[in-house]
Parts: sequence; C-alpha cells; structure tokens
Amino acid sequence: MALHIINHPLVQHKLTLMRKKETSTHDFRELLKEIGMLMGYEVTRDFPLEDVEIETPITKMVAKDIAGRKVVVVPILRAGLGMVDGLLTIIPSARVGHIGMYRDETTHEPVFYYYRMPAGKDRTVILTDPMLATGGSACDAVRRLKADGYKQIRMMCLVAAPEGVKRLQTEHPDVEIFTASLDNCLNENAYIVPGLGDAGDRIFGTKM
Ligand code: PRP
Ligand code: URA
Repeated sequence: MALHIINHPLVQHKLTLMRKKETSTHDFRELLKEIGMLMGYEVTRDFPLEDVEIETPITKMVAKDIAGRKVVVVPILRAGLGMVDGLLTIIPSARVGHIGMYRDETTHEPVFYYYRMPAGKDRTVILTDPMLATGGSACDAVRRLKADGYKQIRMMCLVAAPEGVKRLQTEHPDVEIFTASLDNCLNENAYIVPGLGDAGDRIFGTKM
C-alpha cells in the first residue's frame, strides 16, 4: 500500500527545527502539534464528499459535506500523543483511542500495556506515532486494532526508517503510511538515523 511523503514546505521546515538537538521541549511539542495539523490535511485528502442543501444568508445552494466518514485518532503512547491535538483542531468530531506500548531497550520489541477505544468499529483509524523505526510498535498496534474489528487504518508518523516502512507494508499492506520523511537507516540501538532522537523524551522532557 502507498507510502505518502508529505513534502509541504511548512512541514519540512518545522521538521528541521524539531531535528535540531538544541530545540527546547516546549518548542518541540508545539512544532509536533503544528505538523500534526498540517499532515491531517493529507491524511484526510481522499475523504469522500456528498452534496447537501443549505441556505446562506443570500440564497439556497447545494454545498459539499464529508460523507459520513467518522474518525478515531489513536496515539501510540507516549509519543503519539504529541500529534493528537493538531489532528483534533481540524477534525473536531474525531474520537480518541489509546494504545500503550514501549520498546524494550534490549530486544527493541514493543511491550504492550494499555488499550482503550471508543465505541464504533466503522470509524477510520488515524494511528499516530512520530517514529516508525523497526516498525514493531506500529505493526503490533495495527494487529490489535484489526483483531478488535477496525478495517480502515491509516498510519501517520513524522520520521520513518526504511526498515519500519518495509515491515509495516509487508505485515499490513492495506495500511497507508503518511510520513514527513523517509530517513536513511537504523543505528545499533534501533534509533532512526539521522532522526531526531527519542521523541517521547523530547516531548515530555524525560531525558536523563
Ligand atoms: C518509540 C516511538 C514508537 C517506537 C518506535 O516509543 O514513539 O512508539 O519507539 O519504534 P519501533 O518502530 O522500533 O517499534 P518508545 O518505546 O520510546 O516509548 P515512548 O513513546 O513511551 O517514549
Ligand atoms: N523511538 C524514538 O523515539 N526514536 C527513534 O529514533 C526510534 C524509536
């Protein structure tokens, strides 16, 4: 399934600021929120429209409305939380689910700890996580969502490694991936190179 790289100049400029090691926690968080909103335009670009009859102060007209597409935004905790507010700014009717997992420092495999979704399996899921590294967390999250009955799932990240894209496309070829950058590779600790470091630590200021 498709890999969409969002090349919009505003997204690329903000991503560059986020990559810089001297960027503060406050600025990092604000930039991620802004990028979340901007990427939301692309993630929802193909939502179908339908005609609706409305009345302006001047006259009646047939206008466009989104055709019943209901959305649930699902951040992978913790870092995925950083993209939620931006998406909710442009999709205020969206519900929010949560999937909790962290990467084991030695095996780099995801360790699952929390799953909570709102009602309605017919909703389109926008799964958010700024980092798609080995792809283990995203694949596990998608697997759990599918097992729970969700059929339409889109992955929105910020920086992806080729390894993670390949794994997600192989295990879940139906899931479209949206990212601001396809980076070079993973390092020996399975961090994305050049990447931006540990996204969760940079959002929440937890770096030791
Ligand atoms: C990071 C990131 C992803 C995962 C990506 O989370 O936010 O969830 O690693 O790596 P993967 O593609 O190799 O699975 P982390 O485990 O650091 O947890 P955190 O968000 O709570 O900091
Ligand atoms: N998780 C992160 O936060 N950053 C990476 O580069 C890889 C996994």
